[in-house]
Amino acid sequence: MRPTLRFPLIVATSLALGTLAFAEYEHSLDLSALPEVGTVPTKDGLAAWDNIHTVLSHPRCLNCHVGADNVPLWGTAETPDRIHGMAINAGESRIGAETLSCNACHQTSTRPNTTHHAAPHTGMDWRLAPVEFQWTDRSSAEICAQMRDPARNGGRDAAGLIDHILHDAELIGFITWSFEPGAGRDPAPGNLQAHLEDMAIWTAAGMPCPEQ
Ligand code: HEC
Ligand code: HEC
Repeated sequence: MRPTLRFPLIVATSLALGTLAFAEYEHSLDLSALPEVGTVPTKDGLAAWDNIHTVLSHPRCLNCHVGADNVPLWGTAETPDRIHGMAINAGESRIGAETLSCNACHQTSTRPNTTHHAAPHTGMDWRLAPVEFQWTDRSSAEICAQMRDPARNGGRDAAGLIDHILHDAELIGFITWSFEPGAGRDPAPGNLQAHLEDMAIWTAAGMPCPEQ
């Protein structure tokens, strides 16, 4: 798995030249420590899943991974269920195509987010996650089962889940942003490198899930 993992990082490094604020961040992603599939005991995989769950249950991630009401959240640690102001509904398109599209306010830009209460931007077009990736109102065990199921994770196998993170780092997408969201927002716990390593450990252990 390792050689294919190195390539996107090289791309990320060259793209980062235009985005100085993130350049060092991209350079610091170290893929050499990632374990090979089948080399990690289940208990280590379960511990890594707990770390992953701590990240994805943070409002920075949950605010987009919402259910079929298509309503984005402005959740914080204190008020995790707070819905987006301005009567925004993303519709089934999950980008607001039916009413007011997200990019009317959320730009696509790799510039750092420096203004408090401005609509955040990333290098990817802003949108909700597909409804089958809903994490709100779901237990750790439920989210784990859905994340390892290709029918509910965008058709990804273990390598695909790792590539998703590297691709996100390359574009300065939603996961990368969540760890460095800029002015006025709490970052998701940890950092992108630690999240990448936890995902690599969990997938290399065969994606074990808690029973409850
Ligand atoms: C009319 C402008 C506007 C539109 C359209 C809009 N947003 Fe927002 N959005 C904002 C603003 C402003 C904020 C930041 C509010 C703040 O920090 O107080 C925000 C914040 C968010 C957040 C919170 C990010 C976080 O974790 O703190 C999410 C999620 C979000 N928007 C999703 C969407 C989605 C999805 C769409 C399209 C369906 C959308 N928004 C459309 C203005 C808009
Ligand atoms: C701005 C909205 C937004 C935020 C914030 C966001 N995501 Fe997502 N996420 C998406 C979209 C859109 C997709 C679907 C794109 C794709 O599959 O490549 C997605 C897909 C995913 C997937 C692949 C499918 C799955 O559920 O298995 C994972 C894993 C994921 N996100 C993790 C995260 C994590 C971890 C965070 C926080 C650190 C996060 N996301 C924050 C919008 C968001």
